Amino acid sequence: MEAITGFVGRDEQIAEALRALRSGNSLVIKGRAGIGKSALLRQLHQQLGGEFPCFWLADSNTKAALFDLAEQVHHRLSLQVPERFIPARYRMQVHRAGIVEWEWIWRSLCRTPTQELAHLIVTSLRGSRSILFLESLEVSPTQASLFDEFSGVAQLVAAMDAENRRVRIQRLLWRFQKSIELKPLPRAQVRALVVRWLERRPIRFSSERVRESFIRAVEQESGGVPAAIQGMLRSATNDEEVCPVRVRAHRHEAGVRYLDMTPIFAVGLIGFMAARYVSRGIGEVEFYVLSGVGTVLFYSLTMLMRRLRG
Ligand SMILES: Nc1ncnc2c1ncn2[C@@H]1O[C@H](COP(=O)(O)OP(=O)(O)O)[C@@H](O)[C@H]1O
Ligand SMILES: [Mg+2]
Repeated sequence: MEAITGFVGRDEQIAEALRALRSGNSLVIKGRAGIGKSALLRQLHQQLGGEFPCFWLADSNTKAALFDLAEQVHHRLSLQVPERFIPARYRMQVHRAGIVEWEWIWRSLCRTPTQELAHLIVTSLRGSRSILFLESLEVSPTQASLFDEFSGVAQLVAAMDAENRRVRIQRLLWRFQKSIELKPLPRAQVRALVVRWLERRPIRFSSERVRESFIRAVEQESGGVPAAIQGMLRSATNDEEVCPVRVRAHRHEAGVRYLDMTPIFAVGLIGFMAARYVSRGIGEVEFYVLSGVGTVLFYSLTMLMRRLRG
């Protein structure tokens, strides 16, 4: 969405983040999916790029992300690679000029196992006062140990889903001296985003009043979550013309939260099933019938919740 609207708001969080990073701390940005963590990370990356060597580890598969990181590090700091990585015909040239071209080494780097590649990057980052941006802390066990190594040689800025309670990720958190939580955007900023979008991607509204109620619907239904705003704007942009009925239809699920009752129903189900056995044991017929009814009821509720969620 930023490509169309530009980045909006978050001034305080950016100022706070810049302060933390300039004073040498590592930073974790928390918030639910779609709230704008990656977008904020990109802003920080842009603003700090001139002051520190800044590198980006994307939220993609480890090997691809590391290879990309190796290229960034090479262009900014020059990657320290073993001599066997350089084709024989260039070695003399390297000894003379001390410069290694990316074209000469990328093939060897492609073939290098993940651990070794990470190790090369870590060695090259040492002492450089670099900042490493991690688009996601949603990591596998191998990546978790990688991050550990990186945190020894660079400042980290990482985005993390607020709901993430995984132990291996909680274990990484002590590395981050500073944490910033992203909240939904205030209404005025949601409006600013919608207005900017409409300037670039005009939508035909059947009247000015419909336009206004469309903006208000987005303000309300999105709950200030950028991904939800984007979803609603996109689906409106696909419509030929927005008229009043459609305005009401523009809801986006990222803006709505559901309370998941499945665990409670499942406990109820187990309770009634147990009660059936107890009542059979003690020969209570009424109790037996009652617990049978309860079992069926809670079984249906559990199934219903499953279907609603799926
Ligand atoms: N402050 C903002 N201004 C403009 N667009 C934003 C802003 N925050 C997020 N977005 C847009 O909203 C979408 C979701 O944001 P993203 O950063 O991917 O969320 P997260 O990383 O938290 O899941 C992206 O398309 C992004 O461009
Ligand atoms: Mg993200």
